[in-house]
Amino acid sequence: MYDAVVLGAGVIGLSIALELHSRGLKVAVVARDLPDDSDSVGFASPWAGCNWFPFDESPTSPASIREKRTFSRLAALSKAHPELCERIPFFQVWDGERGDLEAWYKDTVGEYRLLDASRDRIPGSKRYGRTFTSYILHAPRYTAHLGSLLRQARVPLIRRRLSSLDEAYNLPEIGNVRLVINATGLGARSLIGVMDPDVYPARGQTVLVRAPEVRRCIMHTEGFMAVPKPGEAGPPEPAYIIPRPGPSGHVVLGGTYLKDNHSVLPDLSTAQRILRDCYNLEPLLAGKDGRGWEDIEVVAHNVGLRPAREGGARIELELRELGNGVGKGVGVGAAAGAGVGAESTTKSRSKTNKQRQVAVVHAYGFGSAGFQQSLGAAEQVAQIVEGHLKRNGGARARL
Ligand code: FAD
Ligand code: LAC
Repeated sequence: MYDAVVLGAGVIGLSIALELHSRGLKVAVVARDLPDDSDSVGFASPWAGCNWFPFDESPTSPASIREKRTFSRLAALSKAHPELCERIPFFQVWDGERGDLEAWYKDTVGEYRLLDASRDRIPGSKRYGRTFTSYILHAPRYTAHLGSLLRQARVPLIRRRLSSLDEAYNLPEIGNVRLVINATGLGARSLIGVMDPDVYPARGQTVLVRAPEVRRCIMHTEGFMAVPKPGEAGPPEPAYIIPRPGPSGHVVLGGTYLKDNHSVLPDLSTAQRILRDCYNLEPLLAGKDGRGWEDIEVVAHNVGLRPAREGGARIELELRELGNGVGKGVGVGAAAGAGVGAESTTKSRSKTNKQRQVAVVHAYGFGSAGFQQSLGAAEQVAQIVEGHLKRNGGARARL
């Protein structure tokens, strides 16, 4: 008898499943793409850069709170698994508006200081910059690692594509459950019973290269997620350099953020633009002897579709009634706060399955920040789940 089914096996679903398991719940994970499918473009997680580098500018936003929680837990991961997670120097650089020079996370990261163009050599000769230490992750291996932790804990990982959320409450391998965690990423746009129109793909193209001498992250991401209006000049195109932990000497070069673009085919001229811009930030990418960007050793051209959402990630409890013949969700509450553990609630009814009260906790729409929010998001979902179960007399009592 299972307490909950986690739908989705990207970094979010896997982190949530581990968190719920560690709190004593019996869970199963069900997904179309599983953690070892590191070549699948069906999910975003294997394609992440991947680092801890916030985009949200408010220190008190739910995203920033999740990021702070995740940061604090990455220290232990980097000690236990340096091949998956490593702390290295970061350089964030920009040219245009001076903006607010201080970042909200200046006291979260380490060795933070502003760069001064008159004293420091700012990468790419940009006008402004910050440096600090933060974490890089090996996205495909970390995703696989979460999967193996779950397998070791005897949490089943079941491959299955669902057409509707209702199916998750009565799967043949699992039987009846009353609680589902919806961590389907981009799938939340088309999954019947969810069909969230605010979810969209944000295409990210990267070039994986070998450059063992490059051991610092450089981020030139001003206007990263901006969508230029037709005919208007947009912000400069993003360029970033994210080394991968481990002995391979691999470095991920990015990038693009193309809203509503579903193409998973790498574009050659974009790849060349990325190589050129990243070389300008870090000529060491082509080796020590001062060669050009054409000499960078390319390992692979990649594209991932970020599961983005207007308004940010959705973490929310929804009470549902299965088998009552009514299709639309009815809102009964608003967000109750901004911190970890904040929740809002909606109610909806669905057409299929035998009539019974069930619940879903949604956890999708993390866009560019799924890894750096993952552990904070898992704690937030677990608190919502525990609160819901307490109000309903405990998981097993309700089955
Ligand atoms: P996904 O990884 O997409 O997983 C969704 C899961 O749901 C999959 O298992 C899928 O099979 C399953 N699913 C979907 N629909 C169904 C269905 N109908 N039935 C069954 N299963 C279903 N984030 C960072 O934090 N730092 C970074 O540096 C970073 N860099 C990035 C660089 C690039 C180029 C890209 C593309 C992304 C980057 N990201 C980064 C973002 C990060 O990859 C995502 O935010 C994260 O992977 C989202 O995880 P997820 O679990 O929500 O979704
Ligand atoms: C991305 C990283 C930089 O989304 O977060 O491309």
